[in-house]
Amino acid sequence: MPDPEKEISKLRAEIAQHDRLYYKAAQPMIDDQAYDRLKTRLAELEAAHPEFDLEASPTQFVGDDRLEAFESYRHRKPMLSLDNTYSSEELIEFGRRLERLFPEQKLTYLVEPKIDGVAVSLTYEDGQFVRAVSRGNGIEGDDITRNVRTIEAIPDSITDAPAVLEVRGEVYMRHEAFEKINHAREQAGEPLYANPRNLAAGTIKLLDPAEARQRPLNCILYGIGACEPGNYFSAQSDIQTHLKAWGFPVLEKYWLADGIAQAWKSIEELDTLRQGFAYPTDGAVVKLDPFALQEEAGYTSKAPRWAIAYKFEAERAETRLKEISLQIGRTGAVTPVAILEPVQLAGTIVSRATLHNEDEICRKDLRPGDTVLVQKAGEIIPQVLSVNLDKRPADSQPFDFGEHIRALGLDASRDPSQAVWRINSKDDPIRQQRALQHFASRACMDIDHLGTAVVEQLVQRGLAKTPADLYSLSEVEVLQLDKFAEKSAENLIAAIAASKQRELWQLIHGIGIPHVGKQSAKDLEANFDSLDAIADATEEQLEAVDGIGSIMAQSIHAWFDDSTNQALIEQLKACGLNLASSRQATADGALAGKVFVLTGSLPELTRDEATQMIEAAGGRTSSSVSKKTDYLLAGEAAGSKYAKAEKLGIPILDEAAFRELLRQ
Ligand code: IVH
Repeated sequence: MPDPEKEISKLRAEIAQHDRLYYKAAQPMIDDQAYDRLKTRLAELEAAHPEFDLEASPTQFVGDDRLEAFESYRHRKPMLSLDNTYSSEELIEFGRRLERLFPEQKLTYLVEPKIDGVAVSLTYEDGQFVRAVSRGNGIEGDDITRNVRTIEAIPDSITDAPAVLEVRGEVYMRHEAFEKINHAREQAGEPLYANPRNLAAGTIKLLDPAEARQRPLNCILYGIGACEPGNYFSAQSDIQTHLKAWGFPVLEKYWLADGIAQAWKSIEELDTLRQGFAYPTDGAVVKLDPFALQEEAGYTSKAPRWAIAYKFEAERAETRLKEISLQIGRTGAVTPVAILEPVQLAGTIVSRATLHNEDEICRKDLRPGDTVLVQKAGEIIPQVLSVNLDKRPADSQPFDFGEHIRALGLDASRDPSQAVWRINSKDDPIRQQRALQHFASRACMDIDHLGTAVVEQLVQRGLAKTPADLYSLSEVEVLQLDKFAEKSAENLIAAIAASKQRELWQLIHGIGIPHVGKQSAKDLEANFDSLDAIADATEEQLEAVDGIGSIMAQSIHAWFDDSTNQALIEQLKACGLNLASSRQATADGALAGKVFVLTGSLPELTRDEATQMIEAAGGRTSSSVSKKTDYLLAGEAAGSKYAKAEKLGIPILDEAAFRELLRQ
């Protein structure tokens, strides 16, 4: 018979640890369902043993996201959490309870998607946005205004509003943005984020808003905290209507249901639609609609009795972990990848999954040959959740990261302050190979005929180690490579030579400065005359560039400070590569020298298309509105940039006016 006191105290400590990882570090170690199981078990034990003081139990309060580095701010009205369930029976039981409480009433519920993001409270005073606060411990949260201001869709001001209004909702990251950031991290050999929620939670707590701006966040508002005077709404559904009229980004779909059975039908419908939503959803929230009834139903210490969250099970399956393969990124980071027996999950075949780093493999004790539980939700990268120990082969051995590194002949070591293994020497052939592949890739110098296999041979045969070596390759040398004949050798050399004329941003991206991706490379080109000017810039000057934050500024400065890198630049210069900015110099074209800022979604053009059209006509784009902006190109759901452009008197164009301008 297990000792309940011991089990309770063990569970409390374990849950407190997971709360800290989820709320403060944005790096949960277990998934929601496993966490909810621990909490349910603890609540059961506590109910059966009321003698163990409840006051300090994590079942009695909401998690706490507050961090030292932020100012705390007290919510005018507490931000509560929700009770949740994975079972339709429990949902129906929630409805039955309310029916017993209100036997005379026909109950209507509002069914909303549950957004998998980070709770936020926005305060408006006299219609002006003044502050954004995280949920914190429900009573007091962190002031995250500077980061939330990077979210365009949040209005700076609203009209016909009450004197004081707290608007509540969820900050999230779109699937596309998540994929893009992770893709860039993969290319840079940096560890991947497990899902958009963790990335959004980490971003909202960045100390540098310029870094936050690099990671596009979004927000959906669905609730109200304080409202003074308080006669604006009479039901939950009213909130939706008002928020929309005030111009807040709101849920694209919700349901008013008569009775709990109909609410369940709506949840089923939501489950079929949610893959198409821009935001990640992990369930539905069912709320009793009329405020009068909500007040009567009341609250527990941490959640309303008039609402419940129904959570969807993520899509999971068991499969065999065939091997753990080690991959090397352009900066030499060695990242582990799970190679799986292919399995069907969330509509796609999954054969690889992210393993993040050595610590994660140790924590989960993953071993090649194990049967593992894999999860994939939406477009999220598949993850390995756990090992099924019952199916572990008798002869299996723990995975020794260091030994695998050695077996592959890699000269790498683990940075003691990080979980990352990195190839030690820049002269390591594999690191050289990755760096050259990146340099030649489409997103950089776009060199035809210079694929992985060719780069591999060039490095192996000692014909090229750095990008500069490519430009001195001779036809005789290229002819030594497998499958090369005269014509193909000529083509390769011509393609390499043609790349000398690439734009400066392509070169900046190609030389592989840590943290500098395509957009940052473009931002640098737009603000400096030449590569030399960037190399000579101080950290402050770099940081003054829109879109460049302090970490990136440091990284750029350190890169140009390194003598090997300086030698590389000199060699590239000597080879005749273009090191001058063309973005400032383009004197021709209908939009020569004009700076555009884009906001909202245009009826026909995508952002990329509009940007290409602007650039083709000699103009350029910038990410924020300032006095230097010539035009704002605004579409549907334009946010604070619109108001700012109006304030500064900057001409605002819709798509039709933009096309007209190009025609002139
Ligand atoms: S209502 C007092 N509605 O889920 C009730 N919450 O697990 C306040 N969430 O803390 C919450 N989508 O951060 C509500 N449509 C929605 C939601 C939602 C996501 C979050 C919210 C809440 C958590 C509870």
